[in-house]
Amino acid sequence: MAKSSGERRVAIVSGLRTPFAKQGTAYKQLSALDLGKIVVAELLQRTRIKPSDVQQVVYGQVIPSLSVPNIAREIVLGTGMPRNIEAYSVARACATSYQSTVNVAESILAGVIDCGIAGGADSASDVPMAVGKRLTEALLKVDKARSFGEKLRALQGLGAKDLLPVPPALKEPSTGLTMGESAEKMAKENGISRADQDAFAHRSHELASHAWAEGRLRDEVMPVYVPPGYAAFDEDNLIRKDSELEAYAKLKPVFDRRYGTVTAGNSSPLTDGASALLLMSEKKAKGLGLEVLGYIRSYAFAAVDPAEQLLMGPAYAAPLALDRAELKLKNMDLVDMHEAFAAQVLSNTQAFESDTFAQQKLGRDKRIGKIDWDKLNVSGGSIALEHPFAATGARQISQTLRELRRRGGQFALCTACAAGGLGAAMILEVE
Ligand SMILES: CC(C)(COP(=O)(O)OP(=O)(O)OC[C@H]1O[C@@H](n2cnc3c(N)ncnc32)[C@H](O)[C@@H]1OP(=O)(O)O)[C@@H](O)C(=O)NCCC(=O)NCCS
Repeated sequence: MAKSSGERRVAIVSGLRTPFAKQGTAYKQLSALDLGKIVVAELLQRTRIKPSDVQQVVYGQVIPSLSVPNIAREIVLGTGMPRNIEAYSVARACATSYQSTVNVAESILAGVIDCGIAGGADSASDVPMAVGKRLTEALLKVDKARSFGEKLRALQGLGAKDLLPVPPALKEPSTGLTMGESAEKMAKENGISRADQDAFAHRSHELASHAWAEGRLRDEVMPVYVPPGYAAFDEDNLIRKDSELEAYAKLKPVFDRRYGTVTAGNSSPLTDGASALLLMSEKKAKGLGLEVLGYIRSYAFAAVDPAEQLLMGPAYAAPLALDRAELKLKNMDLVDMHEAFAAQVLSNTQAFESDTFAQQKLGRDKRIGKIDWDKLNVSGGSIALEHPFAATGARQISQTLRELRRRGGQFALCTACAAGGLGAAMILEVE
């Protein structure tokens, strides 16, 4: 079932996130679990429902945590929620909180639950460092050794190189390319110029900056009182309020230093943060007298071969979600596309507008539709607002529904690309 309607229509009652912070800054002492607990506890507090109304928590993190194999369950246990609430964790790279939202929605659609919490958190500041294979083998032997001498012998033969930590790579295992290198490939193959990427990134910062200045993000972003001093941190900390287009052109390319166009300015940054959504069946929400933010009308996931263009997921998932919603792109009052890189957004918008792409890649006669730039990422996107991988989907959904209501619109498309060549899309509606 990929459409929500009728008796069990899925309502998004509320959405909340922490401010997002660049890696190693405001949240450098906090873990993904800390951030997840902070946002879920506050979401419950603000919605004023009984925690015992929640029947399921589905949550995700992309950067794994060795000490927390099931972040969803630890959030239940660490926020004072009733301990009998079942919870499980999911990961779908940058589309993780689309997945957790869909999991809760599907439980509601199936009639298994009436109320659940979904979301995601990541800390790029709290990255587990692994050790290499030779050191792992030696340490396992040390663990099993019966005497001190045996322990010492297990470590013999290790060189200095074996002691170096192995950080997790943002690399595709199937192609060996990083996300940034994949964005470079897309820029080259689709003819996306450096100037266009920089202009798009500048637009993201300007729009995000205006959204904050006008107070449009205030209700969906909670302040976090960060230990040890507990000073309030209440705004995303990488938005360039004084963004100047000329400054972008001066930055050196990062992923292809010689011929590249992808820079720190036109990429999403490595980020810490968390988000959460409260979902209910429409009947339950109305029964409790709650004001609903909006509804999920349909959703879709899709995949493309990573060896082609890795980050084209939106151009594959969005038409499926639109079909399932029985709507067209032109019916959307807003479109929110995750900005992994400016080159990726511009490659996808190019594909949305191309009959050739539709015919050759989607097996359709006509293009998905023309992009209305007045409706796309109107409060900026992940380049400026930042991108804690697992938190971004729920951030997009909550932000888009609020903006849709503000504008008196009816339908919106949220969509994201993700590692592995994955794409996610969701059609939202408000009454
Ligand atoms: C691109 C990336 C490597 C840059 O990392 P970084 O070097 O830590 O980036 P910074 O934010 O420190 O920026 C580097 C410099 O450019 C400057 N800069 C960045 N954007 C700028 C702009 N718009 N205008 C002027 N200067 C800018 C910064 O101020 C900084 O200057 P400094 O070195 O003098 O402090 C990193 O953000 C990254 O890996 N991003 C991709 C993440 C990813 O793969 N996501 C997956 C998407 S699905």
